[in-house]
Amino acid sequence: AAFLRILGIETSCDETAAAIVVRHEDGRGEILSDVVFSQLDEHSAYGGVVPEIAARAHVEALDGLIEEALSRAGVSLDEIDAVAATSGPGLIGGLIVGLMTAKAIARATGKPLMAINHLEGHALTARLTDGLSFPYLMLLVSGGHTQLVLVRGVGDYERWGTTIDDALGEAFDKTAKLLGLPYPGGPAVEKAALTGDPDRFQLPRPLVGEARLDFSFSGLKTAVRQAATEIAPLSEQDIADICASFQKAISRTLRDRIGRGLARFAKEFGHLDVGPALVVAGGVAANQEIRRTLQALCIEHGFRFIAPPMKLCTDNAAMIAWAGLERLAEDMPFDGMDVAPRSRWP
Ligand code: KG4
Ligand code: ZN
Repeated sequence: AAFLRILGIETSCDETAAAIVVRHEDGRGEILSDVVFSQLDEHSAYGGVVPEIAARAHVEALDGLIEEALSRAGVSLDEIDAVAATSGPGLIGGLIVGLMTAKAIARATGKPLMAINHLEGHALTARLTDGLSFPYLMLLVSGGHTQLVLVRGVGDYERWGTTIDDALGEAFDKTAKLLGLPYPGGPAVEKAALTGDPDRFQLPRPLVGEARLDFSFSGLKTAVRQAATEIAPLSEQDIADICASFQKAISRTLRDRIGRGLARFAKEFGHLDVGPALVVAGGVAANQEIRRTLQALCIEHGFRFIAPPMKLCTDNAAMIAWAGLERLAEDMPFDGMDVAPRSRWP
């Protein structure tokens, strides 16, 4: 065939998603459809994702979303060449729903099944959106992950840094919760910070100055709790000041941690013809201050800063479909009917 067309399915957390993506002969990717159902309303009352509710919501939404993805792309199930589904890491109930649906479709149509690592989906997205070539650095900052990853090729990743406690999005969510702000916390903290004084509270900048590239955010959250307790009851201005100070501490931490990562990349791959690039992914990449920080850092280090459209930065099925296509293009093996979902999969 001149191209490969694939159905992608994503159900690892609180987004149910389906997409149809094509890989053309020249290697270029094209998204024919990309539908996402966010379960936010189902979970917001609980202040976080409830796994059982998520799994049930995936069951309810997924079939309809797949129909929708096919009809928007103008193709039938018989016209796709393969099925890709996230098989980990994530919440096991949701993974079971997506992977079993993919198996059923693969079995019924006789098309190959690709079981995809969710993180690989995030890691390869910039090749779909920007045609980026290997190697590059990727910073994944979401509610579940904080990782700096060297992307050397399809299936060839090296984790340079990760969080030793909370994920960055989780730190935003927990900080918001203890300040009485709504879930998800990231957008709420960012909004409050706009009118706050970033220099009012001296919050810790964990691991700054250390040679290894890891992150730590739980101490920051504890410091926020202490500051808030000391000055309680909190006025709106207090909350704004805490949020602004919190974001400043995070920006400074990222500057140091990611700055070291960029320097290491430049040292190891300084001989490349194509300029070095840093890609961001994950919901926290929506944060304007964090974006500005990373952008400035990239300029300083001579890196291209690549931030795919927000819809493809947060959880979606186009990235899972694309990861499947990349693996198919590399002649990597299909998965069998015995492939199992994995809640943990580094
Ligand atoms: O990638 P994502 O949509 O879902 C997964 O975690 O997989 O990321 C959600 C996380 C949440 O923790 C949310 O608070 C955070 O991204 N987030 C933000 C912003 N928007 C979303 N964090 C900081 N600033 C934002 N504007
Ligand atoms: Zn994700």
